[in-house]
Amino acid sequence: MAAGTPVAPRPPLRSIPHWLWPGWRRLPGQRPRSAAQGKRVVLRDGSKVVIRQVQPADAPLLADGFARLSPQSRRMRFLARKDQLSAAELRYFTDIDHHDHEALAALDPAGGRGVGIARYVRDAGDAHAAEIAVTIVDDWQGRGLGTELLTRLSARARSEGIHRFTALVADDNRAMAGLLRNMSANLVGRNPGTVEYAVTLMPSGKSTTAPAAGPGRDRVPTPC
Ligand SMILES: CC(C)(COP(=O)(O)OP(=O)(O)OC[C@H]1O[C@@H](n2cnc3c(N)ncnc32)[C@H](O)[C@@H]1OP(=O)(O)O)[C@@H](O)C(=O)NCCC(=O)NCCS
Repeated sequence: MAAGTPVAPRPPLRSIPHWLWPGWRRLPGQRPRSAAQGKRVVLRDGSKVVIRQVQPADAPLLADGFARLSPQSRRMRFLARKDQLSAAELRYFTDIDHHDHEALAALDPAGGRGVGIARYVRDAGDAHAAEIAVTIVDDWQGRGLGTELLTRLSARARSEGIHRFTALVADDNRAMAGLLRNMSANLVGRNPGTVEYAVTLMPSGKSTTAPAAGPGRDRVPTPC
């Protein structure tokens, strides 16, 4: 980014400023990884997933996952009606540096389709903070996968020097509010139609998250 370029007020988790569009690139020798190459995880209902870092070759996988989301899940994720992901968005969401922008994907080992994704994007104005987003395809919601992905993303973020997650959430998103409450999130802001949460990440070796205590910060209510 050229010096003097205006900095976006928050990381581009919902739309991509043109100055953030990455070039389509692939490291020499990089090959697509199959689902089998990630970490095998058993969810609380006994179903199995494979979790691994997102890579550029995952663009079709992401497009397929997005196509299987209900309109409601898309609205909750993007805070607006969203009918498709553009080629530039698919590139932005998959061609990531794993430092300022990390994303973990969950795949169904039976067939290799994507069933969930969680990402952080480091805050342009605070190197120790990052905004998160998580999406689980509707058929897989409520099995503990969102929690699993965010727990693993928290550990990755800590190892990249991030101490705090923020999340901008629709004020009627009960599921995300519950997930964040389980992570000891605090409500730190209210806007028309949205609420903002913060989660303090604990150093590795301790429990991953801690209450983001601070003056004037409320415990997370269940949005209505
Ligand atoms: C929000 C979302 C990521 C949660 O993922 P998930 O895998 O379904 O959540 P989990 O199974 O890990 O549940 C975590 C907590 O969320 C809450 N929760 C999950 N589903 C819920 C529902 N249908 N209603 C109310 N609370 C719910 C619960 O508090 C739950 O904790 P508990 O199981 O101890 O009660 C998922 O529903 C989703 O992808 N929604 C659409 C996209 C979205 O809203 N993304 C968030 C924008 S950043």
